[in-house]
Amino acid sequence: MSDQPTTGKFPSTTTTGAPAVSDRHSLTIGQDGPIVLHDVHFLEQMAHFNREKTIERQPHAKGAGAFGIFETTEDVSKYTKAALFQKGAATEMLARFSTVAGEQGSPDTWRDVRGFSLKFYTSEGNYDLVGNNTPIFFVRDPMKFPHFIRSQKRLPASGLRDNHMQWDFWTNNPESAHQVTYLMGPRGLPRTWRNMNGYGSHTYMWVNAQGERFWVKYHFHTQQGMKFFSNEEASAMSGSDADFHRRDLFAAIADGEFPSWKLSVQVMPYEDGKTYRINPFDLTKTWPHADYPLIPVGTMTLNRNPENFFAQIEQAAFSPGNTVPGIGLSPDKMLQGRAFAYNDAQRNRIGANFHQLPVNQPKVPVNTYMIDGPMNYHHTGAAPVYAPNSEGRTWSDETGAVHDGWEADGEMVRSAYRLRAGDDDFTQPGILVREVFNDAERAALVDTVAGSLSGGVREPVLGRAFDYWKSVDPDVGRRIEEKVRSGSAPQPAEGMGEA
Ligand code: HEM
Repeated sequence: MSDQPTTGKFPSTTTTGAPAVSDRHSLTIGQDGPIVLHDVHFLEQMAHFNREKTIERQPHAKGAGAFGIFETTEDVSKYTKAALFQKGAATEMLARFSTVAGEQGSPDTWRDVRGFSLKFYTSEGNYDLVGNNTPIFFVRDPMKFPHFIRSQKRLPASGLRDNHMQWDFWTNNPESAHQVTYLMGPRGLPRTWRNMNGYGSHTYMWVNAQGERFWVKYHFHTQQGMKFFSNEEASAMSGSDADFHRRDLFAAIADGEFPSWKLSVQVMPYEDGKTYRINPFDLTKTWPHADYPLIPVGTMTLNRNPENFFAQIEQAAFSPGNTVPGIGLSPDKMLQGRAFAYNDAQRNRIGANFHQLPVNQPKVPVNTYMIDGPMNYHHTGAAPVYAPNSEGRTWSDETGAVHDGWEADGEMVRSAYRLRAGDDDFTQPGILVREVFNDAERAALVDTVAGSLSGGVREPVLGRAFDYWKSVDPDVGRRIEEKVRSGSAPQPAEGMGEA
């Protein structure tokens, strides 16, 4: 709800609450005369207008979201003590969905991964799960992330998107094959946000009340059914309604059609993490369900639209580093990089006290020694600003092993993860293409990739791309090469590069 009167007899005011006098006419000397410098309301309005935009998110700029509730319907207390995941708990939450590469005004239906960000306002502080609609990712070392994102955005000279640059990055980083196969396949074009699944993607830690640790992966399955666009449908939609996904979610909730997702987790006993044949912390891999089946947890329902997009969605700040007791991070290097990146982005994008804004504020009391800074609103009065102190203000002092830690030892190195028996880049994408996609989906994959490669990709990247796809699947790779070389590939799909 707005915290300012905007209707009725209440006239508009200046920001300091005095009558605004006029929002339609500036103060001039005579009807046709020049504007005077002491028309403070006019000058303030111009100055504030110049500052009313904040920086857009570096990746995931275009998105929207809604509020809702997460209800834990199953007993998973043997895996986690987190209050929000105790059977019967109902936790208020916020979700934001997004595309990765496009800017704020870009079409919702361009082929891209979709962000799936969740903030749970739990009784133990805010818990954020910042995932995607894919269970995997393009790279496995955070050092590569800024390079990856730049390769998907725009050329430095022309400001155009560029297929050549995208494929140059992907084929130079073969660990991307699983995610690229997912992206170029049917799930790369969700029909609406309501019709897509969400995944935590990383492996996280859960800790139960006895201190036992588990590795978990989160899966949110849409209850609206998975639905996708074809390249042609998505392309047409990007021209006719660039905000289609944003509009769809808002309209559905306004009409009382509340979308919901069922959460299940895969749980790996802590010790299995050391010996499992696939590195369970490698973000480019999934865990086969035959080894770690889905365990149901609860239901998320989105039932309330934002009252103000800027205040509640644009200024929303999610971070995978925001955890609560009973939930921890993991040896996934990507996750460790992310644990820093988000709050820092938000300090830059919104301001040092971004967490004090109502949408980001926890619903529990905050007693932090991180004080002051621009726009500080909540404060601790005259309480001591240092710890330990003798003046009665509490401080925390846990020492020893942490409840959500793991063992680590060795020399400092710059290196890839140690390879395990099942750790190669092409087995899982090969399974996706051969065993999950049907004939029509494989044919569409060939068309989509060939179309993209025909959109300005040059040697040596082109040859490398054919080898990349032949490593994923020899037949699919051969068909892609034939299509491109014979010039019979369909037009590149929208958003797949313009240069
Ligand atoms: C080292 C790797 C990564 C880095 C450094 C990184 C960094 C960032 C940054 C700086 C933002 C903008 C945050 C903001 O301004 O509020 C962002 C947004 C986002 N990222 Fe990442 N990211 C990484 C990997 C990932 C992965 C693996 C996923 C999904 C599994 C992901 C999902 C998202 C989502 C969904 C958003 C949008 C958040 C929102 O809705 O506000 N990112 N990322």
